[in-house]
Amino acid sequence: MSEPTSTPRSEPFKAPVGTRDVLPPESGRWQALVGAFAAHVGRAGFGLVQNPMFEDLGVFARMGEGTDVVRKEMYDFRDKGDRHLALRPEGTASVARAFVQHRPATPWKVWYAAPSFRYERPQAGRYRQHHQLGVEALGSADPDLDVEVVALLWDFYARLGLQRVELVLNSMGTTEDRRRYVEEIRRYLRARAGELDPADAEKIEHHPMRVLDSKRPATIDAIGDAPRITDRLSDEAAGHFERVRAGLVALEIPFRLEPRLVRGLDYYTHTTFEIVSEALDAAQSTIGGGGRYDGLVEALGGPPTPGIGFGSGVERVLLSCDAEGVFAEPEPTVDVFVVDTAGGDVARDLSVELRRAGIAAERGFDGRSMKSQMKSAGRSGAEVAVIVGPDEAAAGCVTLRPLHAEGEQRQVPRTDAVGEIAELLARLSH
Ligand code: HAM
Repeated sequence: MSEPTSTPRSEPFKAPVGTRDVLPPESGRWQALVGAFAAHVGRAGFGLVQNPMFEDLGVFARMGEGTDVVRKEMYDFRDKGDRHLALRPEGTASVARAFVQHRPATPWKVWYAAPSFRYERPQAGRYRQHHQLGVEALGSADPDLDVEVVALLWDFYARLGLQRVELVLNSMGTTEDRRRYVEEIRRYLRARAGELDPADAEKIEHHPMRVLDSKRPATIDAIGDAPRITDRLSDEAAGHFERVRAGLVALEIPFRLEPRLVRGLDYYTHTTFEIVSEALDAAQSTIGGGGRYDGLVEALGGPPTPGIGFGSGVERVLLSCDAEGVFAEPEPTVDVFVVDTAGGDVARDLSVELRRAGIAAERGFDGRSMKSQMKSAGRSGAEVAVIVGPDEAAAGCVTLRPLHAEGEQRQVPRTDAVGEIAELLARLSH
């Protein structure tokens, strides 16, 4: 089915299919989520990294030529200099590219809040532009770093108040373990190609592991006895994974081992994990996922450098917060609302003076009626309304009226207004 390529001109424009505008007050919650994440990962020593929103297409090709993300979903284009570029579909490859370019001291621990683009079939919780909160830690192969990264994501959700979440854990082994296992699985699937759902059978050659976590009944029936990667781990990988599991147990983070957990990107080695919300529809229930990618930096031209991280979709996290009734929208935070029905000079000047003094101030516009401006003042969440009617204007004063707390309204001289308001706010906050 082809989609129309442009909106007929008689209709107003809309945001492109699979994208959405985030408006206040929802955006306030969004901002609070990013702030909570920044504070949370900041306490673990992660610093913000800002990468370009587009990269040379080759940077993303390293995520796996066989994966859907690379084969079907890339927003790639040629710029005016004929460079083949792509909008980033995720954050990890760009971070690894930046590591290769700048060679920072290791371990290099960074976080990001990154718009990401994938040409997917849009539905609730699946967008063509989504936003990931993520961390990456490069330069250490220590399994305790895996524990730190998984715990960071787990504890972030706990901090938000999410309870109906499950951590699913697997290991992909070393690069060599994984390569051997892919060959074994491919042989296994070829022998059963006729029994698989055709949509899965076509993945056998380019991405056989992805068949393992298929939800299609015919495939599930056909591959019940497929070899498990966790039975094929080298001693090195098995030891690493054991230490990771022991760490999670020590931190009392519950997890379910799932040897069929196959992430959608090919760069993973050793620990892989997803956190699933039981409060969301199964198709979009993974709110965060990640793992080790010990070969990625080298594949991008850098020195052999291990790495691990996760990405978590802002939209899905907020959907699961809604479903669990947690992490409410923050209340509006304005301190003062200036209501002026006497020509607007005081509202114009006082609102700016207040902001210069560090006080959050809003005001009415367009000479609206007292009633209408007082309504706006109520909606703004302001603690105090500063009222200027014709009487106040004539007397050179303003009326201060607390909107939520007990207390008489009173008039103060216009010239003292900023200081009086600051004092009143300080008193009200006690
Ligand atoms: P991913 O599993 O492809 O991993 O995406 C991470 C998270 O982004 C998902 O769990 C989901 O919450 C969200 N997400 C992905 N695609 C969409 C979409 N189309 N609409 C809404 N949300 C979406 C990665 O991207 C890896 N870079 C994670 C990682 C970091 N691994 C190591 N470090």
